[in-house]
Amino acid sequence: MITLALSKGRIFEETLPLLAAAGIEVLEDPEKSRKLILPTNQPDLRVVLVRATDVPTYVQYGGADLGVTGKDTLIEHGAQGLYQPLDLCIAQCRVSVAVRADFDYALAVKQGSRLKVATKYTAIARDFFASKGVHVDMIKLYGSMELAPLTGLADAIVDLVSTGNTLKANHLVEVERIMDISSHLVVNQAALKLKQAPMRRLIDVFARATQAQA
Ligand code: ATP
Ligand code: PRP
Repeated sequence: MITLALSKGRIFEETLPLLAAAGIEVLEDPEKSRKLILPTNQPDLRVVLVRATDVPTYVQYGGADLGVTGKDTLIEHGAQGLYQPLDLCIAQCRVSVAVRADFDYALAVKQGSRLKVATKYTAIARDFFASKGVHVDMIKLYGSMELAPLTGLADAIVDLVSTGNTLKANHLVEVERIMDISSHLVVNQAALKLKQAPMRRLIDVFARATQAQA
């Protein structure tokens, strides 16, 4: 049995077409079912649903043989021991710095002001501002980052941006693009050795589907 870890929502929805290209179907809809282990039409493949940030942990410790996770999560939480054979080019977005439209970010940086930065991505933000020589007070949040500058909690946020609609709806502007993000296949190295043939077949399925979508 091969166990594939996915997170509910965009990763699940954007991974399905890659599997479907090889005739693989997940037999339950996570939006309708409360089940966390979902069978597929392949007797030797099942999907487990975990939090997006937990996918690397499941794969690292063998709770799943492989998984799909954002590069942001991989960088932030570390990817020790994970084999990352493929960029699946799905769930594409970027990590950016955003501020209130009336906050002069360029001036604050130029003057060497200390910035209050709210983010879920503290490691990425810390590295980025350190590379610019900007001193920051980091405020760790777990969601709704956009609210922080609006309430005076922070001067800036570091968050994911795709269409820019969330920033726009909250009167924030993107002032720096830190890095482009997409989701990657991550593989448990021991599982790759122990279940070589079926694991290689599944990695090939993802490789072919990704190439076909490029
Ligand atoms: P958790 O539930 O663990 O807090 P999450 O709410 O961030 O995770 P998702 O919103 O499903 O989970 O995001 C999963 C991944 O999808 C992110 O790590 C990122 O790589 C990508 N992603 C997030 N938001 C977007 C977006 N608006 N457009 C495209 N890709 C995105
Ligand atoms: C993500 C991210 C931003 C938004 C950006 O949130 O945290 O808030 O997408 O996308 P946009 O630029 O296209 O508006 P998501 O929709 O995943 O909500 P969540 O963080 O609450 O899961």
